[in-house]
Amino acid sequence: MRTQVGIVGAGPAGLVLSHLLAARGIESVVLEDRSRAYVEQRVRAGVLEHPTVELLRQHGLTERLDREALVHRGVQIAIDGRRHRIDFADLTGKWITVYGQQEVVKDLIAARLATGAPILFEVEDVRVADVVTARPAVEFVHEGEPVRLACDVIAGCDGFHGICRPSIPPSELQVHDREHPFAWLGVLAKAAPTTEELIYSRHERGFALYSMRSPEVTRLYLQVPPDEDIAEWSDDRIWTELTMRLPTTDGFELLDGPVIEKSITGMRSFVVAPMRYGRLVLAGDAAHIVPPTGAKGMNLAIADVSVLADAVEHLERTGDESKLDAYSATCAQRVWRVQQFSWWMTSMLHRFPEHDGFQRQLQHAELSFVVHSRAAATALAENYVGLPFGRLYPEEAP
Ligand code: FAD
Ligand code: PHB
Repeated sequence: MRTQVGIVGAGPAGLVLSHLLAARGIESVVLEDRSRAYVEQRVRAGVLEHPTVELLRQHGLTERLDREALVHRGVQIAIDGRRHRIDFADLTGKWITVYGQQEVVKDLIAARLATGAPILFEVEDVRVADVVTARPAVEFVHEGEPVRLACDVIAGCDGFHGICRPSIPPSELQVHDREHPFAWLGVLAKAAPTTEELIYSRHERGFALYSMRSPEVTRLYLQVPPDEDIAEWSDDRIWTELTMRLPTTDGFELLDGPVIEKSITGMRSFVVAPMRYGRLVLAGDAAHIVPPTGAKGMNLAIADVSVLADAVEHLERTGDESKLDAYSATCAQRVWRVQQFSWWMTSMLHRFPEHDGFQRQLQHAELSFVVHSRAAATALAENYVGLPFGRLYPEEAP
């Protein structure tokens, strides 16, 4: 079997890349080890940046999103029970779109299959071969048969636990890795949202986040210890804790309802560089992870592949690898900008077990300044709605 680009992983990175390549007349095969139903139901991110939506729109991928997604022109930050609003539209002229990652994934899969382009689900024993040659290959088992997919480039879009990154010799990679001293318990509830915007809540008992998926479904998060057992969290305990941490004395009403899904996710910051080894290139969570407080992971994955699609197009048209050579450095500026923003949001909003009174007061002072200073609020808003895709600071040496 032969294609131009072998894409490992049908998450946001792999699927968006397949569409960007198709728009440039470049063939690809997407390989996914889970079933279609599984990837279409996996509950994850919900916030799309302005440039993410623009990119999807340019490629005709927003038909359902334009009908069903929720446009949020600002966000609310609660400090110890009192809400403050950051008005994205006023501060930046841009806004965000709330639309579940699994809805993005469903739309991308349907649009690709409608063109007859391949996505192979439930592939097994995926391996990459000959990546330091000009004719690398992905080897896997599909419907019980071994397959060798020869290609020009392999895109490792297989997430943090995928096989692509570990197949690069460790001596070739620089790794930055930090685990944070808390996790998020995420809940999806059949309950109507009672505000039009997300509420990020800093509270002495720990961080809480009020988000949503539709006019009928609320998405909620609670900061919990990193090794917390989900069995310790009955639905009643979740609602009681949310009531304590969200600003319920401020005119905000928390409506409860049946919990559809709940899970605990650890928090880490992780970056590898370079995002390339020979003809194997990494994109999205395969190359970096951010704590979810900045709502950036999916958006960063899509920003990576927007750079990668141009680099691959240049290679396919001219045979010249220079844009592929520059790929990792081009992405790195945004990767670290987003790491810093995600860490900043995380550090302002969570309760740190090791903090003493002095550090808690500093944290409080910083967050109060952000919500009261137009300049500081603009810095938050500019990052949150998303910086333009492409190289952030072209004049800066990589
Ligand atoms: P993934 O979505 O992980 O996709 C990788 C794909 O590769 C998967 O389908 C996987 O099954 C497949 N795969 C793995 N191994 C193999 C293999 N060996 N062979 C073939 N296929 C393989 N981001 C935001 O932008 N905004 C948010 O609001 C936000 N909130 C989040 C909340 C939570 C609780 C979590 C956990 C994450 C959140 N994120 C958020 C992060 C976001 O979900 C990820 O950054 C995003 O999924 C990255 O996309 P990806 O395509 O790189 O990786
Ligand atoms: C979500 O709606 O899932 C969500 C929103 C904002 C975040 C993280 C997750 O920062």
